[in-house]
Amino acid sequence: MYRVVEIVETWEAGEGVRAFRFNGEFDFRAGQFVMVWLPGVGEKPFSLAWRDLIVVKRVGRFTSRLFELGEGDRLWIRGPYGRGFEARGEKVALVAGGIGIPPVYAFARQEKGNFKEVTLIYGARSRKEAVLLDIDEYVDEVVVTTDDGSLGRKGFPTEVLVERGGEFDWVYACGPEPLLREVLRVRNYRNVQVSAERYMKCGIGVCGSCSLGKYLVCRDGPVFDGLQLKGLI
Ligand SMILES: Cc1cc2nc3c(=O)[nH]c(=O)nc-3n(C[C@H](O)[C@H](O)[C@H](O)COP(=O)(O)OP(=O)(O)OC[C@H]3O[C@@H](n4cnc5c(N)ncnc54)[C@H](O)[C@@H]3O)c2cc1C
Ligand code: FES
Repeated sequence: MYRVVEIVETWEAGEGVRAFRFNGEFDFRAGQFVMVWLPGVGEKPFSLAWRDLIVVKRVGRFTSRLFELGEGDRLWIRGPYGRGFEARGEKVALVAGGIGIPPVYAFARQEKGNFKEVTLIYGARSRKEAVLLDIDEYVDEVVVTTDDGSLGRKGFPTEVLVERGGEFDWVYACGPEPLLREVLRVRNYRNVQVSAERYMKCGIGVCGSCSLGKYLVCRDGPVFDGLQLKGLI
């Protein structure tokens, strides 16, 4: 059930954020996640940024250990799991905050050419923390906001969405929960899909640790239609 892969390349994708490319390809839909196991350390979920790529922010024990690994080191991976984004609409906005970028990057790359126009609205705390990968190759427009104004416009991505919301017939979002909540509110829960995050253990709908109202995020999400989440986040 696990695939053992070797890391072939790592690089700094932003402050405290590292990309890991490995020597195995996973068939996936953008938004789906894999469980990565490090023997003796634990197992954690990460969105696939591409078939052979995860992009990780260092937060605690597991991710700190992962950051010590490099070329030739092994990862045990199972998945992909969960429900990914489904492409709908013609003129769409992808809204990402912080480390919410990997599934959004994957979605832009997978769906390139399938939408009429794609605008990425990306928010980070500061220039140093911005993680944009090479997403500009896959979208028509990139609008960046930072909390401190050190890159792009000062403010939050949701302010851009409020100003320009009428332009987009569908919105796709991933990021911290306050960002998702505001995106859902601005869209009135309609024509919007968001990727939610909950603490996960099994990743396959067994343990219940990722419950979100009547849903299990690992099985029913992590991508949900806006209306499914009304009153839940
Ligand atoms: C579907 C999905 C996709 C994800 N994709 C990515 C990705 O692409 N890139 C990325 O960097 N991260 C991603 N994450 C988050 C990633 O899984 C976590 O950052 C990682 O698990 C942190 O592990 P850690 O041991 O380093 O930190 P931990 O020590 O586990 O701490 C991380 C956070 O979890 C909290 N926490 C710890 N234990 C519990 C508990 N029992 N109940 C509730 N909260 C707890 C801590 O307070 C802390 O805020 C994703 C998460 C999900 C659910
Ligand atoms: S992580 Fe176990 S049910 Fe979702």
